[in-house]
Amino acid sequence: MDADADVAVCGDTPRVQTRDAAASPSAAKRGAILMCAPDYFGVDYIINPWMEHQVGQATLPRAQAQWENLRGNLSAHSDIAFVAPTPGLPDMVFTANAGLVIGDTAVVSRFRARERRPEERLFCDWFEAQGYAIAPWPENVPFEGAGDALIDHARDIVWCGHGWRSGEAAPKQLERIFSRNTIALKLVDPRFYHLDTCFCPLSGGWLMYYPAAFDLASLEAIRAIVPADKRIEVGEKDAASFACNAVEAAGRIFLNACSDDLRARLIDAGFTPVVTPLSEFMKAGGAAKCLTLHLPGAAGKVTPRG
Ligand code: ARG
Repeated sequence: MDADADVAVCGDTPRVQTRDAAASPSAAKRGAILMCAPDYFGVDYIINPWMEHQVGQATLPRAQAQWENLRGNLSAHSDIAFVAPTPGLPDMVFTANAGLVIGDTAVVSRFRARERRPEERLFCDWFEAQGYAIAPWPENVPFEGAGDALIDHARDIVWCGHGWRSGEAAPKQLERIFSRNTIALKLVDPRFYHLDTCFCPLSGGWLMYYPAAFDLASLEAIRAIVPADKRIEVGEKDAASFACNAVEAAGRIFLNACSDDLRARLIDAGFTPVVTPLSEFMKAGGAAKCLTLHLPGAAGKVTPRG
């Protein structure tokens, strides 16, 4: 199927999880974050190296407590919107993979893994119910949303990872849809299968990333765009505890773990690192950033509940 056969497939029944609360006046400036409660979370299958030997090993009450802690931390600085969790879809908690939202337009993910494909319709319904225009996307190009496509607000570009999950054609498609310069980055280490596991653009033009996750051409592209004094290169130990899978809110950086060295460098750059342990989600190959989807400037559109 070629690009002319693009389709925007959506269901009829909007599903929006409600959890009380009201929008604050500053909500529009702060944007909102989409999360999905881990009611049905678990490691039920293996679609990335982190999940190997972990089937059945995640502890639900601990996962729920860790998720609540992250949600509580983020809700102090951002409005949170929720999509209803669904039985049989243990990875739906990772809302970064719902799609990519810029302005009023959402691209809904096309999962590479069969196990996650039923999530597509649910996320699509949610975006539709919020009034987003769903951009057509070719059936044959895998794309895993904000897991692989990261907006760099300082440079007005989109960085798009490919190689493990999103297809090589995904960056060009995004560029076509959003009319934003999109930089393709090839991921080469299977542990860092989504761009957001090893790459984190921060405000002020800073970039935290793990260089060994990229091929040479991609590293050159990164270094040509981000000056050396704005690059926070993390070592293997921080990378392997998903330090780059971080969420920035109000100058704070929420992350699963952080070495003393990385902590010092983030503080030097003007950020406040906040560790919010997510060991249960690490068993599924995800941490803080994976559990969130940024809805930029969405507060006028999304009714936050949390
Ligand atoms: N088990 C999930 C998967 O492999 C984890 C997704 C993590 N999400 C992310 N944005 N990195 O699809």
